[in-house]
Amino acid sequence: MNAQSNVTVSKARFVLGSRGSTAGRPIALVLGSGFTGLSGMVKTVQRVPYTSMEGFALPPNISLQKMPEATIGTIDGASVIVYPRRLHLYHGYTAFEVTTLVRHARSCGCHTVVFVGASGAVDPSAEARLGLVSDHLNLTGENPLAGWRRSTDSFVPMEHAYDAELRDMAKKVASERGIDLLEGVYAEMRGPSLETPAEVRALRVLGATFVGMSLSLETIMARALGMRVLALTLATNPAGASGVSHRSVRAEVTSSARDLEAIVRGVVSRI
Ligand code: HPA
Repeated sequence: MNAQSNVTVSKARFVLGSRGSTAGRPIALVLGSGFTGLSGMVKTVQRVPYTSMEGFALPPNISLQKMPEATIGTIDGASVIVYPRRLHLYHGYTAFEVTTLVRHARSCGCHTVVFVGASGAVDPSAEARLGLVSDHLNLTGENPLAGWRRSTDSFVPMEHAYDAELRDMAKKVASERGIDLLEGVYAEMRGPSLETPAEVRALRVLGATFVGMSLSLETIMARALGMRVLALTLATNPAGASGVSHRSVRAEVTSSARDLEAIVRGVVSRI
């Protein structure tokens, strides 16, 4: 982290510090495109532009009307840092760069990260349903830890990558609120091309429930940094379907935003 964001983060910690015992350990919420509306839940204390984060750069082929920024604040009194606009391999980022937000969250004291994103339904029964990720298949051929020089062992156990206690919490919140939540395996493809029919068949054989273009690299980094991970996904379309676009995904997300918000709120308040 550079000097500017260091100052910002310690100031935010100071402000959050007056708001309860969890303040020193905010929860990171990393949101996929289309889910940025969830930032509306946050009572803002401080904003941190992504450009102030160490290692963050816009890929040369992307121009944004508004620079993304993290929001440090509270949801129902719990300290959070919300990161809208996840970084993807298909933007041109390296696997390590894709994990910039996770590393930033850890450096700000977050020990838990909640990922929210869209996916395609590999299992036909998953279509248009909210998913709770129990495991992943990293099919990108990349690993953010490769070549990363750190003092501890680079063989990171991934057996319990998606925290069982957090998953139970999410299931409990969903059932209390009558929200349908399907637990399953998320396969990450590099993208941005969508899956061919042969790939969808292969993903079924591999045991995938959902397919998307994020999550596994970020989860690997989070686990390497000792963070607990919860991942929620909305299966916006059948995998391999025609007519899938950023716009169609967003429209589907909007219709489920309330349920997602309820689960995130419920989990954040119980951690
Ligand atoms: N495939 C990959 N990623 C996605 C999809 C899909 O069908 N839908 C939303 N994100």
